[in-house]
Amino acid sequence: MGTALVTGATAGLGLEFAWQLATARHHLVLVARDEARLEEVAGQLRAAAGVDVEVVRADLSVPDDVARVAERLRVTGEEDGETRRPVGLLVNNAGFGMRHRFTKDDLDSELRALDVMVRAVLVLSHAAAGQMKHRGRGAILNVGSVAALTATGTYSAHKAWVRTFTEGLAAELKGTGVTATVVAPGLTHTEFHARMHADTSGLPEIAWLDAPRVVADALADVRRGVVLSTPSLRYKAASAALRVAPRPTVRWFGKKRRL
Ligand SMILES: NC(=O)c1ccc[n+]([C@@H]2O[C@H](COP(=O)([O-])OP(=O)(O)OC[C@H]3O[C@@H](n4cnc5c(N)ncnc54)[C@H](OP(=O)(O)O)[C@@H]3O)[C@@H](O)[C@H]2O)c1
Repeated sequence: MGTALVTGATAGLGLEFAWQLATARHHLVLVARDEARLEEVAGQLRAAAGVDVEVVRADLSVPDDVARVAERLRVTGEEDGETRRPVGLLVNNAGFGMRHRFTKDDLDSELRALDVMVRAVLVLSHAAAGQMKHRGRGAILNVGSVAALTATGTYSAHKAWVRTFTEGLAAELKGTGVTATVVAPGLTHTEFHARMHADTSGLPEIAWLDAPRVVADALADVRRGVVLSTPSLRYKAASAALRVAPRPTVRWFGKKRRL
């Protein structure tokens, strides 16, 4: 039984990670902004799975909050009087969609997105990798997106960063007992699209994945030490096509797309 820290654990994929990890007998540290929802989820997990659940309220666009989460990740369990368990699996999952046009919208919301989906992933991975290397075991799972292969605004740029960053981290960690994996889901039923006020009514059901499937595939790939994880055959094929498609076509699609 290990301990996993999941960011964005109050909804969608993060909530599903929490449930599947608890069912697999992991203790949990749950991170998100909504404290009432965090406590509610923690209570349900404790009651249903009998695991220990800590909650850390943090807005990952705020550097001081990210620093508190990083401090929790640095716990090795060897410090005098330390009762908290070291984290063996970090799931950098928190994120949100953006319908913004870069040149039309305000820079502050762009910077918040960069802070949550890039800066926080960097800081938390650094804290976790150091502690895990010291202990000679652990895993980091970063939630990217198939959007990393597209040219759909800054969101796809952030997810491309997550993908490249994780591949570099995995190479650096090879042989240390610590692994890094990036999961690249396609469209998945969560709160993501409602939160960004996207109209998804025109999208066919075949385009959608369910969170339990995405999370089960991602965790299976973490267990196998896979670096690039793409849940479902549909999105494996779409990703393969995007990788070989002429970039002008990819850019045309990016300009046309708006959920
Ligand atoms: N759904 C999709 O189609 C899809 C596809 C590919 C990739 N993804 C990626 O999957 C990840 C999870 O998204 P989801 O679909 O599960 O979305 P979701 O259902 O909207 O859940 C997002 C989670 O992130 C947390 N969060 C958002 N902003 C935060 C902040 N500033 N600080 C801390 N926590 C924050 C939210 O909790 P609070 O509001 O309580 O903070 C919530 O728990 C994201 O990285 C997303 O980019 C999603």
